[in-house]
Amino acid sequence: MTASYLLQSPADLSALNTMALACQAEQVITLSDEAQLEQILNAKHQHEPLFVLSGGSNVLLPPTLTATVLRPLLRGITVLDDRDDSIHIEVMAGENWHDLVLYTVNNGWYGLENLALIPGLTGAAPVQNIGAYGVQLDDCVTHVRACHLPTQTWHDFDKAACQFGYRDSIFKQQAGEWLITRVGFALHKDPTRVQAGYGDLQAQALQLANDAARQHINPVDVMQAIIAIRQSKLPDPKVLPNCGSFFKNPVIETAHFHSLQTQFPQIVGYKVDEQQTKVAAGWLIDHAGLKGGGIAPILSHEQQALVLTNHSAKNDPIQACQQDVAATQHFIQQQILAKYNIMLEREPVWIDRDGQINMSNTTLAS
Ligand code: EPU
Repeated sequence: MTASYLLQSPADLSALNTMALACQAEQVITLSDEAQLEQILNAKHQHEPLFVLSGGSNVLLPPTLTATVLRPLLRGITVLDDRDDSIHIEVMAGENWHDLVLYTVNNGWYGLENLALIPGLTGAAPVQNIGAYGVQLDDCVTHVRACHLPTQTWHDFDKAACQFGYRDSIFKQQAGEWLITRVGFALHKDPTRVQAGYGDLQAQALQLANDAARQHINPVDVMQAIIAIRQSKLPDPKVLPNCGSFFKNPVIETAHFHSLQTQFPQIVGYKVDEQQTKVAAGWLIDHAGLKGGGIAPILSHEQQALVLTNHSAKNDPIQACQQDVAATQHFIQQQILAKYNIMLEREPVWIDRDGQINMSNTTLAS
């Protein structure tokens, strides 16, 4: 028999989003298996709004949320196929992402090590195809199982069907429609195979390998190097609330990049193809003098300008809300547009009062 799901009504979501924005939800349902979701969908009217909240690390929640919030906290890791040189696993959506990275690497299953210390839960990882230090989630994903909420149907996606791109997937394109329950990963067991070419990672990982008097960098060195880099640059949301990179790295015409280079010779960009260049948004913000800046209490981070942080303390009488984030977002976008003629695009997802995902890039809360 299916265990019953957990219902809270109303619920304070300020501790369930890493930006720590004030948010009161009318109703929150916590799921621990797929059958519970079917029970809930059967009992709902088809047009009743639903909103899926996973680890809360990439969302900007409204002060009041009228949609029913679904929290897929299903747990479990299953080995589907174990060979000498590779392993195929399936992970339930509620498994903590960083704990999964540690678990796989410690078992000698490699591929996820570059994605260490990314906050959030496994089920959310495919939505924006999390990526860091030269690796994206889709390098290892084999399949995703998800429920299409509007039609109440289950779908098994192979990797191609997920339509992964830079911080993108079908689940992001059809935002709000899918609840992911399982993600499959193909991992390898070759400790000499690493992705350590990314900027400061190479130096840090090499140092670790040398310290251990080893000849080669192994995946454990890479993971430890990434943990050290992220801890030094990125604020811990438990200490200083944030939702990671706040803006995407913009892709601009290479001709535009060359003209910026004449004005700003140090500007950081990476060639995408002959026509396009991806620019480091953190560099743009930093060199516009906005590192640490913004409109209080939402400020750009002192060590990594691309991250916006919430400085309103837990016991402040008035908690920061979506409107405060919008103010700083708008301020930075306008400054960057004026200085470099580039419109920065927000990365975290803006949620409206009814749980709808607002795709507008310049949303100012009403
Ligand atoms: N930079 C500055 N000043 C800053 C920040 C960055 O000059 O304040 C420069 C850096 O010196 C570097 C360049 O900008 O030359 C790029 O910076 P970094 O290597 O830190 O990476 P990023 O492009 O800022 C991206 C991801 C991060 C991911 C890192 C590492 C995006 C939007 N962000 O950041 O992802 O951890 O690469 O791979 O693609 C996240 O999505 O939450 C996230 C943290």
